Amino acid sequence: MLNSKVNIKTEKDIEKLRIAGKYAAEVLEMIKEHVKPGVSTAYLDQICHHFIIQQLKVIPANIGYHGYSKTTCISKNEVVCHGIPSDQDILKEGDIVNIDIAIIKDGYYGDTSRMYAVGKIKPEYESLILTTYEAMRAGIHQVKPGATLGDIGFAIQSVAHKKNYSIVKEYCGHGIGKGYHEQPNILHYGQKGQGLKLKKGMVFTIEPMVNMGKAAVNELSDGWTVVTRDGSFSAQWEHMIAVTEHGFEVLTPWPNGTDIFPQI
Ligand code: MF3
Ligand code: CO
Ligand code: CO
Repeated sequence: MLNSKVNIKTEKDIEKLRIAGKYAAEVLEMIKEHVKPGVSTAYLDQICHHFIIQQLKVIPANIGYHGYSKTTCISKNEVVCHGIPSDQDILKEGDIVNIDIAIIKDGYYGDTSRMYAVGKIKPEYESLILTTYEAMRAGIHQVKPGATLGDIGFAIQSVAHKKNYSIVKEYCGHGIGKGYHEQPNILHYGQKGQGLKLKKGMVFTIEPMVNMGKAAVNELSDGWTVVTRDGSFSAQWEHMIAVTEHGFEVLTPWPNGTDIFPQI
């Protein structure tokens, strides 16, 4: 990929993205208490929608994105990503759920996602969720000027592979700014030292999807929902990251101040 396609953000841009990221993270914190057995994913989507419009007074970015009609993506159990909230999709004890939210504040995008446990979940699913978080965190900790995209992907895949999980290859992180999905693509696998060199002012998401079984996925006929081909459960976390002078800044930190395994 040509370096020139990756736009470098100014301090002013990053300040705007920090605000957009904070708003997005607030939605995920707000919805936490509503994720429980018996609620539909459409209901959770509606709560997020109203909070974004009425409380935060920002724009839900997913609505209308390539024809998508909901505010969130809610991906349960074997759904890898882009689960469409539905009245028929009722949460039950033991489910694991990713909620992915994107908003626009003052022309800048905020995009983040996290995992929720519905009631008590099996230890093996908790391990999947924690390992996926650890994989994202390992990727984030590679970020500094001079490091490469391959360093990020390698760190992420190393954490997942140690547990015999697999990394989904079809979907990746992305640059973000005044555009939702900008260059560069951030692959969640790779080789140390390979690929684009990071520079101060780049802003992108890291959002690994990790499957308990094989890596292969299918897209359902609704044109959005992505599921694991073998039916194994899948987890994902997403943060927006800025490359700083000596390292990184997480632009979507959890409002409660902790960045380690919130809510579980
Ligand atoms: N938020 C997703 C991402 O992390 C993209 C969702 S697009 C949608 O990049 F249309 F499905 F909402
Ligand atoms: Co994203
Ligand atoms: Co997202």
